[in-house]
Amino acid sequence: MSLPKRYLITSALPYANGLKHVGHLAGAYIPADIYARYLRAQKRDVVFVCGSDEHGTAIPIQAAKEGTTAQAIIDKYHQAMKEDFEDLSISFDVYHRTSEPLHHETAQEFFSYLNDRGELEVKETEQYFDEEAQTFLADRYIKGTCPACGSDRAFGDQCESCGRTLSPDELINPVSTLSGKPPVKRKTSHWYLPLGKHEAFLREWILKDHADDWRATVVGQCKSWIEGGLQSRAVTRDLEWGIKVPLQGADGKVLYVWFDAPIGYISATKQWALDQQKDWKPYWYDRDTQLVHFIGKDNIVFHCIIFPVMLKLHGNILPAFVPANEFLNLEGDKMSTSRNWKLDMRDFILDFVKQENGGAQCVDMLRYYLTQIAPETKDSEFTWKGFQDAVNNELVSIFGNYVNRTWVLMHKLCNGKVPPLHNELLDDEDRQLIQDIADSKTRVETLMEGFKFRDALFEVIDLSRKGNQYMQKKEPWILAKKLTEQPDVQKQIDNCMHFCLQLTANLSILINPFLPNTARKMLSMMKVVDRMLDWEHAGKIKLLSVGYSLRAPELLFRKIEDAEIVAQVEKLKAGLIKTTETTGGPAATILTEAPAQEVAKPLIQFDDFAKIDLKTGVILSAEKVEKADKLLKLSVNLGTEIRAIVSGIALHYKPEEIIGKQVVVVANLAPRKMRGIESMGMILMAEDASGKLHFVSPEQAINPGSGVS
Ligand code: 2FM
Ligand code: ZN
Repeated sequence: MSLPKRYLITSALPYANGLKHVGHLAGAYIPADIYARYLRAQKRDVVFVCGSDEHGTAIPIQAAKEGTTAQAIIDKYHQAMKEDFEDLSISFDVYHRTSEPLHHETAQEFFSYLNDRGELEVKETEQYFDEEAQTFLADRYIKGTCPACGSDRAFGDQCESCGRTLSPDELINPVSTLSGKPPVKRKTSHWYLPLGKHEAFLREWILKDHADDWRATVVGQCKSWIEGGLQSRAVTRDLEWGIKVPLQGADGKVLYVWFDAPIGYISATKQWALDQQKDWKPYWYDRDTQLVHFIGKDNIVFHCIIFPVMLKLHGNILPAFVPANEFLNLEGDKMSTSRNWKLDMRDFILDFVKQENGGAQCVDMLRYYLTQIAPETKDSEFTWKGFQDAVNNELVSIFGNYVNRTWVLMHKLCNGKVPPLHNELLDDEDRQLIQDIADSKTRVETLMEGFKFRDALFEVIDLSRKGNQYMQKKEPWILAKKLTEQPDVQKQIDNCMHFCLQLTANLSILINPFLPNTARKMLSMMKVVDRMLDWEHAGKIKLLSVGYSLRAPELLFRKIEDAEIVAQVEKLKAGLIKTTETTGGPAATILTEAPAQEVAKPLIQFDDFAKIDLKTGVILSAEKVEKADKLLKLSVNLGTEIRAIVSGIALHYKPEEIIGKQVVVVANLAPRKMRGIESMGMILMAEDASGKLHFVSPEQAINPGSGVS
């Protein structure tokens, strides 16, 4: 089969509404980066694109939470995500953003193209409307109970618990996330993509053509969508924030974020082409291009059904592969942003990469572990102990140890130079090692082409294990003891070290797509240029020339200490936010305890203060807590949620006097139980000289949920 002429690799565009965690990294970014680096090493024509997804309701909702504008949110998180990806050596050729005019134009052209050709339908339907906020409630502006799993953490577009894609009409007991009230229905018109018309194409293309070469989960999900009956999908929304529908009379309508976001792959390619003075069109129109989307499994329907239909109608190529990954759990539980049960890329960068003993080696240590546990076929789990074991027992003890031993011995026994090869002394062990090197290369290739990166990495580590075994059998350090009496033994030492060095050179090529920083360090130790890492050199045993002098050994990785992982687990547990979300009533319980502080507290750094999430709220209701003279149970509107708060202010305020009061809440305080009520956080109170508590309030009305700093 002939190779594709060029490759376009995409990683799901992350929403610019918050930092991304290692689950995202393992799902859509590291695998894509491995593939891109592998293809580049093969000298194939590759463009690897990504960018920030900056539309949709998630953005203004986050802006309300942080008390700022949507623009400020996307600017902040676009920059943060871009930096985090760079810090973790994700080698995008372009990291674009969907707020760029180039993207707006591209998405609008796409919409007009389909609309002008009659491929979209306009329908008037009744949709949920918030009478208090005077707005339609799309996607994340509406929440309720999931019809599939019964969780009350379901939104109008997706259930947070089971991941099922939803429409607002499917929610049980829907409420507006703006006012907390049940919405009413109002008529509105929208543009729809009639997926049903494309059923035959989808059946043929996915269920026949790709039944065997796509992952079972991907084909399975598509099958259930197709069999379940393909409904028309609205591609517009009644919202302020988004790309305007490019038609007269469509005021107040924007493109649905899932219509514009995947088109972001095209605009990112255009931006790359502009920067590189290349032509972007072959990457999206030429059938010789292999398009590969790396995504998490919650994005399958968009990349395998909806976007391909759009691409087909627009005359573009279709994805050849969509290697969707399952989810990564963390320390025995699902990763969750709302419960703060997660490890943000940024946290790993700050706690490891940017530390004195960190740097590029820590980047590769994380990349190693996330690939070793990659959720390719089923959900997998990140544990700090697992991270430590993978680093200490595999990277350090097998791969790192092999390279280090080779270097130390080569300096000790061969004067720091590549020793000659004495062919007349070749034995079965040497021949086996030569064969192992060639076989490994072939196996890694097959696994890489099949998107089995986890197994491919195992293969590379296994080759270094074989190197250790080879050295162990040859025992050059024992041979060296015989040198005075038998100078000819040097030839055996030479052969052993010669092959060990050639194997090291091979390992640098094979490990490069996975651990690029390690490969570079090895290049530097070998004193060779980048070209050495070209894939065509792998599998060969004449990579380092005889007599060439090599640098001193450097340790490739450091060990992870017990104390480091204990600290991380404690940090994770301390940050957990317990939510008992309901659709209408209080979303969580917050304890207020404000004991007077008599002694001055020690100085803290700004970073310590910045960890406290202070928000404004409005007290909606208050009642006495039974058998607790000092406590009031409050219901507080925090903008995007309503929380119940237990506050120690009953001796100072009557419940009825504080309704409507603006307060400041510590929104991320760890939960505590009080009088049987699980609670978290605190309302800020000031205590006067007489011991009376006073609310700390903004001096004028401000939106609930505004940030306080
Ligand atoms: O699920 C998400 O995070 C989306 N922002 C992914 C978009 S992928 C693509 F279509 F842009
Ligand atoms: Zn669900």
